[in-house]
Amino acid sequence: MSAEDLMKVWDRRYSEYGKERSQQEYDYWLKPYRSDLLASGATPILDLGCGTGHDTDYLNLIGCRVVAADFSMEALKIVRRRTARAGVVQLDIENGLPFPAMQFQVIIACLSLHYFPLDKTQTIVSDVRRHLRDNGMLLARFNSISDNECQENGHVRKLHHHFFVDEVMKSFFSEEGLLRLFAHGWRIETLVEREVHRYGRDKVIWEVAARRESRD
Ligand SMILES: C[S@@+](CC[C@H](N)C(=O)[O-])C[C@H]1O[C@@H](n2cnc3c(N)ncnc32)[C@H](O)[C@@H]1O
Repeated sequence: MSAEDLMKVWDRRYSEYGKERSQQEYDYWLKPYRSDLLASGATPILDLGCGTGHDTDYLNLIGCRVVAADFSMEALKIVRRRTARAGVVQLDIENGLPFPAMQFQVIIACLSLHYFPLDKTQTIVSDVRRHLRDNGMLLARFNSISDNECQENGHVRKLHHHFFVDEVMKSFFSEEGLLRLFAHGWRIETLVEREVHRYGRDKVIWEVAARRESRD
C-alpha cells in the first residue's frame, strides 16, 4: 500500500474514532517517568505517531512542551483541538525525522513504531537515536507476540512477526527481537511486557525505556 493510501486508512480511522473513546482509554503509562520527562525542561518532547494525542495531553498537563507528530491530518486536527499549546507536525516516520540531529531530550513513541518491516524499523530506531541528545531517552511501546491479535493469526516467526490487520501491516515483537533492535548505541533501562486496555480491547505490549549512549 502506498504511503498516501496508508494515511487515508488512518485518517478514516480517526474520523470514525472521534476524540472521546481515546480519552477514556488513557492509562497514564508515562507517570513513572515524570522526572525524566520534566528533565527535558524548555526543550519540547517529541510525541512520534501521536494519534489523538493523549500522551501529548498528559505531557502538557505536567508542564512539558510538546511537538506532536503523525502522518494523519485527522489525528493532528484532534490534537490541535485538544491541546492547543502543543506544536503539531505532519510527517511520515519512514522518510526520516525532519528535525536537527540531537534536538530532543525525550522522544515518546507509543504503539507507533511497529508498522514496518524489521529492517525499516531498525533504520527508524537509528533515526530516533540520531535525534536524541547523549543520554536522551526514548519511551516506547510495541505490540507483543503474546498479544491475541498475533496469536489468533497464528503467523509465527521466531524473532519478528508481521501481518496485516485492516489493511495495515503490523509487527509483533518478542523480548529477543527488541533487545536486537536496541542492541547498538542504546542502554535499555526498562523492558517490560504489560497487559493494557487500548482501542476497546485487552492488548499485550512491551514497554521500553532506552537511553542514547554517547558512542556512535
Ligand atoms: C496505534 S496508533 C498510536 C497513537 C498514539 N501514539 C496512541 O498511543 O494512541 C499509531 C499511530 O501511528 C501513526 N503512524 C503510522 N505509521 C506512520 C508513519 N509512517 N508516519 C507517521 N505516523 C504514522 C498513525 O497515524 C497512528 O496515529
